Amino acid sequence: MSKFPENFLWGGAIAANQCEGAYLEDGKLPSTADTLGVGFENRFGTSYGKIDSNRYYPSHRAIDFYHRYKEDIALFAEMGFNCLRMSIAWSRIYPLGDELKPNEKGLQFYDDVFDELLKYGIQPIVDITHYEIPLHLSLKYGGWQDRRLIEFYERYCHTIFERYKNKVKYWMNFTEINTINYLPQFNGGFVVERQDKNRAQIIFQAAHHMFVASAKANELCHQIIPESVIGMNMAGKQLYPATCKPEDVYETLLNKRETMFFSDVMMNGVYPAYTKSMFKRLEVNLDIREGDLELMKNNPCDYLGFSYYMSNVIQSDTKGSAIGNMSWGLPNPYLKGSEWGWQYDPIGLTSYMIELYDRYNKPLFLAENGLGAKDTLKDDGNGSYTVEDDYRIEYLREHIEACANAIDQGVELIGYASWGSIDLVSASTGQMSKRYGYIYADVDDEGNGTFERYRKKSFYWYKKVIGSNGENLG
Ligand code: BG6
Repeated sequence: MSKFPENFLWGGAIAANQCEGAYLEDGKLPSTADTLGVGFENRFGTSYGKIDSNRYYPSHRAIDFYHRYKEDIALFAEMGFNCLRMSIAWSRIYPLGDELKPNEKGLQFYDDVFDELLKYGIQPIVDITHYEIPLHLSLKYGGWQDRRLIEFYERYCHTIFERYKNKVKYWMNFTEINTINYLPQFNGGFVVERQDKNRAQIIFQAAHHMFVASAKANELCHQIIPESVIGMNMAGKQLYPATCKPEDVYETLLNKRETMFFSDVMMNGVYPAYTKSMFKRLEVNLDIREGDLELMKNNPCDYLGFSYYMSNVIQSDTKGSAIGNMSWGLPNPYLKGSEWGWQYDPIGLTSYMIELYDRYNKPLFLAENGLGAKDTLKDDGNGSYTVEDDYRIEYLREHIEACANAIDQGVELIGYASWGSIDLVSASTGQMSKRYGYIYADVDDEGNGTFERYRKKSFYWYKKVIGSNGENLG
C-alpha cells in the first residue's frame, strides 16, 4: 500500500523568470533576473542591474512558456500532475513596482494560466516572487534594503489575492528566503560585497523587511481567501560534521542555525532567543518599527515549503569547496555528485524532513528536488525525439522513496514538486544545458533551437509514479 496520503500533491515546479520569456511583452518591464547573463561572471559579477544590448540574457525568451503555456500544461496534465508550483513575475503585475495601478494584461496572463491548470484539475501553488523583483525597485530603492518595499509588496499581494481568490488556494512567500544571507541579489534585489563591514547589518535589515512583508501577506491572504494556506520557502539541505570531532559537530550546529534562523522566524512568528547573541556577534542592530513584531507574531506561515537537492559537509577549521545550490561545503566521500558537483543524498532528505517536522510541527511541502544533467536528444523511432534519462529517474526514485520513509517516520508531507518539470534556464549558471525536466525543451545555452517540446523517458516514469500515488517507483 502507498505510504503517500490519498490527497497528496504531485507535480512539478517552475519559476516565471526561468521559463516565461516575453520579458517586455504586454506591459512588463525588466526584473532583476532579466539582468543576469550566462556563466558565473555574468550572473554574479558587476553587470547586475544592467542590460547590455550586446549580451545574451536567457530570461528574455527562456523557453517561451508565455506563449506555449497551453501545450506545456497539457503535457503536465498528461503526466497526471495535480499541482504545479509556479511563480508570478511581480514586474508583469506592477512593472515598476511602486506604481499604484496594476497592469491588466499581466493580470490576465496569470488568469489564463490558472484557468488552464484548473481545467485539468491541477492546483496552482503560487510563489509570490521567485528570485526577482521589478528592476526599478532595485535601482531606485536598493531593493529590500528599503523599508518602502513592504508597502509595495503589500499592494502587489492585495492585488493578486483579490484577483485570484477563486483560483489559487496555495500560496508561498519569497523563494528560498535564506539565500539572502549569501546571495542578496537574487531575492533581495541588491548587491553587497563580501568584504563590506556592514554586510550582515544590511542583509539582516533587508531580511527583517521581508519578514514583515511576509507576515503582512499572510494576514491579507487569510482575510481575502479564508480557505487558503500560505507558506514560506527555504533552500534546504542536510549538513553533516566532517568528523565526530566536537569542534566539527559544533560548527555544523552553528551552520544549521544560520539557515533555520529564517524558518524559525517565519514558522514561529518570532525572532528566536539566539537572535540576540547572533546579532551581537555579527554587530547587527535592527531597526524594528512599532507593530512589526506583533504583526509577525500574529501571522506565522501555515506550512514550510523547501527545496532539497543535496547535503553538505562542515569542518571547523576549513572553508569548504564542494559546490551546491548557491552554497558551498566540503566534498562527501560517501556520495555521488552531479555533473555540476552537487552531491546527492536521499537519506539526508529523510533526516532533514524529520528535523524540520520535529522543530515546527507544521506540514511540509517539498517545493523543489531534482537532478540537473546534460541530456542527449535521440530519435524515438516513432517520428519524434526523446531522452533516455535513466540517471534522472534514479535520482528522483531515491528521493521519492526518501519522502515515503519520512512519512513513515510521522512527517506530515503534503506534496512533492520536482524542479523544472520542463527544462528551463538554470538559476545559478543561466545555462539551458543544465536540464531538470521530464520534458525536453529544444533551446540551447545561446537561445538557439526550435523551442519544441519532447517527452523524456522520465516523463512516462513519473506518470506511473503519480498514477500509483507513489507506490510504483519502477
Ligand atoms: C533552486 C532555485 O535553488 O535551485 C531554482 O529555487 C533553481 O530557481 C534550482 O533553478 C536549481 O538550481 P540551478 O542553479 O541548477 O538552476
